[in-house]
Amino acid sequence: MSPADAELQSLRAAEAAFRSEHPGYSETAALDELRRTDFARLDSGRHVYLDYTGGGLYADSQLSKHMALLRENVFGNPHSVNPTSALSTELLERTRARVLEFFRASPEEYEAIFTPNATGALRLVGEAYPFHAGDHFLLTFDNHNSVNGIREFARARGAETTYVPSVAPELRVDESLLPRYLTETLGDHHNLFAYPAQSNFSGVLHPLEWIEQAHAHGWDVLLDAAAYVPTNRLDLSRWHPDYVAASFYKMFGWPTGVGCLLARRDALAKLERPWFSGGTIVAAFVQRQYYQSAPGAAHFEDGTVNYLSLPAVEIGLDLLDRVGLETIHARVAVLGDWLLENLGELRHSDGSPAAIIYGPQSWQQRGATIAFNLRHPDGRIVDERYVDRIAHRHNVSLRTGCFCNPGTGELAFTISRETLVGGEFGDGMALDDYVRAIGLPSGGAVRASLGLATNFNDLNRFMRFAAEFVDLTDTPGDLPPRVAC
Ligand SMILES: Cc1ncc(COP(=O)(O)O)c(C=O)c1O
Repeated sequence: MSPADAELQSLRAAEAAFRSEHPGYSETAALDELRRTDFARLDSGRHVYLDYTGGGLYADSQLSKHMALLRENVFGNPHSVNPTSALSTELLERTRARVLEFFRASPEEYEAIFTPNATGALRLVGEAYPFHAGDHFLLTFDNHNSVNGIREFARARGAETTYVPSVAPELRVDESLLPRYLTETLGDHHNLFAYPAQSNFSGVLHPLEWIEQAHAHGWDVLLDAAAYVPTNRLDLSRWHPDYVAASFYKMFGWPTGVGCLLARRDALAKLERPWFSGGTIVAAFVQRQYYQSAPGAAHFEDGTVNYLSLPAVEIGLDLLDRVGLETIHARVAVLGDWLLENLGELRHSDGSPAAIIYGPQSWQQRGATIAFNLRHPDGRIVDERYVDRIAHRHNVSLRTGCFCNPGTGELAFTISRETLVGGEFGDGMALDDYVRAIGLPSGGAVRASLGLATNFNDLNRFMRFAAEFVDLTDTPGDLPPRVAC
């Protein structure tokens, strides 16, 4: 038997064993069919794609539907009334309504605002939230930098900023402590609480129940749903956050460059935009230096929206509805649980663990984003650049670094505030110098994240890649400089 046939046979045997241990997996068979037809490029290129939290993948059919729509129609800039413009406006408003429907958000309660990405949505809130002295911005340690950055708007305007810590090793918020933070509001002031529904670092699912708890104490709630919505249902008829940020490419791969801010109408009315631009006003005068804002979503969409890409959002949402978000959720739960268990059980010959997983070790209240490091038998962390090199050889796409989530990284790697205060990132310092200066054992963690096209074969091949680190005593000295965190 050729080595390729032997490999195929062993992959098939492993899959058969997995399926018999997880009979419920067959209920997600529609996704196997989708993988075979709409994601054939993954297998023809022998890809193991495990960076869905970085970016989702699109189905072939999304592209053909979108291209057909563009080929068959003439679309003009929507800021006009001519026939081609009217067609763009019609599709734009249809997409807006479809987005609200997908998230089960009542149009009486919510507005959907199109942004370039989740970051664009977060920035809209940050720059326009009416922070003043005495106001309060509360956020969890576990946040993407696009939420952390809002603190700079808050601080510049004299508002107080407070972080709610997570606790290692689970990397969750200690819920008995949360009320202490939530009660720190002042009656007449603006209070904004921001947290991610799912951590893009550890996969922790932070409770959506916090939304109502925070409301009860007078907080407006900004929910970063970017890492949550690709594999979980966000039902805005059940949960009522004031602001929600998401990127569509993370949900269904295509198009990039489009995200949304879902905002409750009363919360939107609270925002004070620091400027106006084309598209956001009804009228502006030069001699009077006066402008009249456009109502609703239009006031928040600067310039010309991405009107040729936006119709593809409806196509992507249709795909998720056709397959069923609940099916995707069930699929990544079974696969993620298997991966968590198998990676956690990977051992060197001396019995020591070959991997250390950050965050929840079981499938309770977590999503399919798993952060880990590989370890040498003597306990040292395997340099993540070497992990990248081996992953490349196996055609496995993973993410390494801190995933733009420094708060969770600081906790996962036990970096104290004192260490950070002592070791400033100085001018002209390279990332390698900094990693050395603060005594980090590596340049960050490794992240595997699952999504709608993941199958068992991907994980099996991932475990073969991980097995290369068993009994690895050292890494070569020719690793490239680190370029970004
Ligand atoms: C939780 C979370 N928030 C925000 C973002 C920023 O998303 P984008 O880069 O699409 O703006 C990401 C991206 O990974 C994320 O995972």
